[in-house]
Amino acid sequence: MNQFLTIALLFFALPIYGQAFKEAWAPLVEASCIDCHDANTDTPLNLEKIGHDLSDSNTFRQWVEIFDQVDSGEMPPKKKKRPDRVIKNKALATLHQHLRDASLAKLIKEGRAPLRRLTRTEY
Ligand code: HEC
Repeated sequence: MNQFLTIALLFFALPIYGQAFKEAWAPLVEASCIDCHDANTDTPLNLEKIGHDLSDSNTFRQWVEIFDQVDSGEMPPKKKKRPDRVIKNKALATLHQHLRDASLAKLIKEGRAPLRRLTRTEY
């Protein structure tokens, strides 16, 4: 595919596409996280307020942290009931794909400057 088209698609499609991972996480958050991670708790994470725009680097970092905590089984804490495996795997798989796409979009966006510099020095 034409490179410009690929970039345009990544950027314009990401915000809408972001909804899909929000939806994949809602059942897991509701069942296994929200009791400890809402506005009324003192954990460092408020899952009611978290953003879903992974092109924002803070939001991106937060979701990477969430991915790691859930993937490693650290969250929910060991003493709590294990989340439903199907719900958990779907949330992780969807998030993984979205994190990968967002880093690809960032790479393409930021990768363009060094490429131009390289071309200039070759002259
Ligand atoms: C029983 C309460 C409880 C439940 C349920 C729970 N957490 Fe936590 N979570 C905590 C506490 C307490 C901390 C702070 C732990 C610490 O600082 O060592 C924490 C920390 C975290 C952190 C690290 C935040 C940071 O910035 O340091 C993440 C990410 C996280 N939880 C995600 C989740 C997710 C996702 C779920 C649901 C799958 C979940 N947690 C379920 C109590 C809970």
